[in-house]
Amino acid sequence: MNSASGARTFAVVLLALGALVAGCRAKPQTPATGTGSYSVNWEATRGWELYGQYCAVCHGPTGRGDGYNAQAMSVKPRDLTDAARLVATSDADVAAVIKNGGAELKLSPLMPAFGATLQGREADYLVAYLRTLRPGTEKPGTDADASQASPAPAK
Ligand code: HEC
Repeated sequence: MNSASGARTFAVVLLALGALVAGCRAKPQTPATGTGSYSVNWEATRGWELYGQYCAVCHGPTGRGDGYNAQAMSVKPRDLTDAARLVATSDADVAAVIKNGGAELKLSPLMPAFGATLQGREADYLVAYLRTLRPGTEKPGTDADASQASPAPAK
């Protein structure tokens, strides 16, 4: 390979890389559908951090119910990306489940109560984050394609 063709190859590689980066940046703006219009704001972002701290071990890094603990549990943590169910549950009820545990909605007590752990409005921030788990909703924490769930931050 002479230096001219080397330079050409280099230019082609650069162009390809540029296209790749541009492709990743282009974020399709998916309009929110369904009830309410939840958007990523600081509350959801704070909820995302809390989720990584307290919830991901069971509900999984992207809310699919596939956290580390899930393997050993007789009642599996819910798939929180399951829009149909969570959309039908009010913010107040979701916050109550988080604070008082599964029994609040006649669910398994294997969903622990976080009322004593969370402070101030943290349960509401978690609700705000859970609302972003719906497929096609913009996710906090990353610049990723809006159709993909962003993994919770590592501890
Ligand atoms: C020890 C494992 C565990 C942890 C930690 C955990 N959960 Fe759960 N969660 C569960 C299980 C199990 C269920 C399902 C109970 C059932 O189906 O009866 C559940 C259910 C739920 C539900 C009800 C879902 C629905 O469809 O109604 C919500 C909301 C929820 N969890 C949110 C959270 C949040 C937010 C956190 C972190 C603050 C968290 N969970 C931490 C195990 C866990």
